Amino acid sequence: MKYLIGNMKMNMDFKSLQDYFKDLIEATKDCKNTVGVCVPSVYLETASNNLSGANVLFGVQNMHYEDKGAFTGEISANMINDFDAKLVIVGHSERRSLFHESDEEINLKVKKAIASGLTPILCFGETKEEREEGKEKYIVQSQIELALKDLSKEDISKIIFAYEPVWAIGTGLTATKEQAEEMLAHTKELVFKICGLNADEIIGLYGGSMKPSNAKELLEMPSIDGGLIGGACLKVEDFKQIFMAV
Ligand code: PGA
Repeated sequence: MKYLIGNMKMNMDFKSLQDYFKDLIEATKDCKNTVGVCVPSVYLETASNNLSGANVLFGVQNMHYEDKGAFTGEISANMINDFDAKLVIVGHSERRSLFHESDEEINLKVKKAIASGLTPILCFGETKEEREEGKEKYIVQSQIELALKDLSKEDISKIIFAYEPVWAIGTGLTATKEQAEEMLAHTKELVFKICGLNADEIIGLYGGSMKPSNAKELLEMPSIDGGLIGGACLKVEDFKQIFMAV
């Protein structure tokens, strides 16, 4: 069983989501994989109304680590829980680069998500320059170590890990299946070293221009347990080809 999670980013609108959810419920009927979507948080109630009871997990793309307070524009884990959502993306590279999220904040968000019963999808990955300099493993190691700081083995087992090389996100460039495999194997070795969880006890996704034409070969790799899909999740017919690819 694989995990295919859509990251809608700042796309879709209320009207198009109604059709999208209807089509997605239909498309996932015979799907043996786990499918989910992370919607813009303003549409969490829409997702909840449409997807509760369906074969599709849902959640959001970010949250704050505090319960409440003077954090204009932010949402809390409790608010997300009001809508029976399960997933929250944490530390996406767009949050890290465009909104200056630090490793420390990402660590606090992972902790809060787990304490609140949400499944954090922890994103990490190197930039083009870092890969060209041969630093990709070091960067991923540092991002993961900082994100997992002070977490127990039990807590870490609740995280979905998403290797997303920045150079592959939204660019049409995809990591080769060998590159993605290598980095997710590296991720799982690291997590084992940190807390003793075995590779088969950890879920590791690949993200970065996964699409119908490359999903199968990526998803067949032994360390790749699924995908985090941006652009290609926005049309149900494309997303379906991905979650039905294996
Ligand atoms: P992409 O986005 O599939 O559009 O490259 C993936 C992501 O950012 O999670």
